Amino acid sequence: SSNVIIAPSILSADFTNLRGAIELAEKAGADWIHCDVMDGMFVPNITFGPFIVEAVSRCTELIIDTHLMIADPDRYIKEFVAAGSHQVTVHQEECKHLHRTVDFIKSCGAKAGVSLNPSTNVSTLEDILPDLDLVLIMSVNPGFGGQKFIKSAIDKIKKLAQLRQEKNPDLVIAIDGGISPKNAGEVVAAGGNALIAGSAFFKAEDPFEVVKKMKGVS
Ligand code: DX5
Ligand code: ZN
Repeated sequence: SSNVIIAPSILSADFTNLRGAIELAEKAGADWIHCDVMDGMFVPNITFGPFIVEAVSRCTELIIDTHLMIADPDRYIKEFVAAGSHQVTVHQEECKHLHRTVDFIKSCGAKAGVSLNPSTNVSTLEDILPDLDLVLIMSVNPGFGGQKFIKSAIDKIKKLAQLRQEKNPDLVIAIDGGISPKNAGEVVAAGGNALIAGSAFFKAEDPFEVVKKMKGVS
C-alpha cells in the first residue's frame, strides 16, 4: 500500500448529497476528509462552520482534517474540535501568537497544523516546527477550489522537507490547491506526504482512478 495520504476537499462536493460525497471518498480509498472553512474575512469566500463539520464527522470514520481560513482562528478552535475535527490547521498569517495557538489546538485534543499562503516563506515556521504535526503548503491563493497550481510551491516543499529532517522527522507535509494526478508525482518527489484534492476528485469522471493514480506516484 502507498504512503501517500489522499484528502478530498468537500468544497468541490455536491452539498445536496454530502453523505454520498463522503462515501465516495471512502470507497475510493481516501484517508482524510478535508474541510475548508472560510469566513469572508481572511479569504474572499464564505463556506461553512462547525455545524457542517459535525455532520461530516457523523458520516465517516476517516480523519477529519479542518483547514481554517478565518480571521483570529483561536475563537473557534475548540468548537471545531468538538465538532469532530481530528486535525485543525490555522494560517500562519492570521496568528500573532502562533505557539500559543498550536498549544491550544493540542490541548483541545486535536493534531496541530499550520498553513502557509503562497507568498509566506517556509522559514517563518522554523522555530515552531518541532511542535507541529502538519504543515499545509498552499499551492493556490486560498479562497476557491478549481484554481491553477502555483509552481513555486515545489521549491517550498523541498525547503520544508529539508527542515523536517533536522527538526521534526514525523511532520506531515500536506499540499493544497490545484493538485491532480498530473502534478502529484512532482509534489510527492519534492517531499509532500498528503495531497489535498477538491475539483480533481469530485469533478472527475472516475474519482476511483484519481485516488489510485495519486497513490501510485510513490
Ligand atoms: C482553497 C482550499 C482548497 C481547495 C482545493 O482555498 O483550501 O482546499 O478546496 O481545491 P482544488 O483541489 O480544486 O484546487
Ligand atoms: Zn484547504
